[in-house]
Amino acid sequence: MDIIVTGGAGFIGSNVAGELERRGHRVTILDNLSTGTKGNLLTGKGKFQQVDITRRFSIESNVDAIIHEAAITDPRFSDDAEMLRANKEGFRNIIALALQKKAKLVYASSAGLYGNGPVPMKENQKKHLLSAYATSKLWMDEYAAQHYAEMHIVGLRYFNVFGPHEAHKGRPASMVFHLAKQMKEGKRPRIFRRGEQLRDHIYVKDAVQATILALHAKKSGVYNVGTGMGTSFNRLVEILNEVLGTCLKPEYINNPYAETYQKNTQADTTLAGEMLGFKAQYTLTQAIAEYVRDL
Ligand SMILES: NC(=O)c1ccc[n+]([C@@H]2O[C@H](COP(=O)([O-])OP(=O)(O)OC[C@H]3O[C@@H](n4cnc5c(N)ncnc54)[C@H](O)[C@@H]3O)[C@@H](O)[C@H]2O)c1
Repeated sequence: MDIIVTGGAGFIGSNVAGELERRGHRVTILDNLSTGTKGNLLTGKGKFQQVDITRRFSIESNVDAIIHEAAITDPRFSDDAEMLRANKEGFRNIIALALQKKAKLVYASSAGLYGNGPVPMKENQKKHLLSAYATSKLWMDEYAAQHYAEMHIVGLRYFNVFGPHEAHKGRPASMVFHLAKQMKEGKRPRIFRRGEQLRDHIYVKDAVQATILALHAKKSGVYNVGTGMGTSFNRLVEILNEVLGTCLKPEYINNPYAETYQKNTQADTTLAGEMLGFKAQYTLTQAIAEYVRDL
């Protein structure tokens, strides 16, 4: 297939693009390199176009499918108006392109829009928007729903994704990344008091499988992409200690973002199982063991 990956110089997009290439698809990456890096780009036959998808651009060639990962992805991005403009405009343009090319569309939504709602989080539960980022993702899901009848369009509410190619993200990179880095440097891992917050950490290789399966989803819709397991930060530090062979105790710090912070995330994975045939394959320990080897 001819597949466009927007945001393919970023974390999830570059992992998706790499896997699509390995499976023999012809991949074109669209990215403005605002956060993504050239270092994440394909080394294979894939094409790269540096474009801002929120502005006018055109694609001459055939397109069978689009995987839309590009967005302003830092929930603490300082300009709410720009966050909303960019994430909405980019999505509008990508839907228009998919309709023009009669292409399937899979796009990144986010578990961020569940805020501090109850866990495990179900797709249809009441949303709790803690940021302009979450607002932009809910807008995308609602806009996509207007197109369910006329195209194959699938939104993926990724939970807390971690793995190779995330270093460029800096502060918004995963907790697995930050804690592993601190601990590899012999420092005590810093976590918010009292470390009991739950996160559904999903390895990027599993998130990639879900994304590719979504091209063949039974029907258009929006689906959670998580493992279904909530792991506390205290437990995450234990796992990292096991894997790294260290014995570092957490250093508890006050949470400066208490107002806008998601206390717990954990996916209800029922729909993803039914509609995408997706189930995460890695346990957290297996994924971390593989990841920290490469870090
Ligand atoms: N990483 C996670 O845990 C997570 C969780 C939930 C949702 N998501 C969503 O998944 C998607 C991918 O996230 P990521 O973690 O890989 O982030 P990332 O920041 O690494 O990737 C985003 C990419 O989009 C590009 N980009 C941004 N604006 C663009 C524009 N206007 N035109 C072209 N390219 C543009 C960036 O340069 C970057 O390469 C995003 O939509 C994000 O909101 C990620």
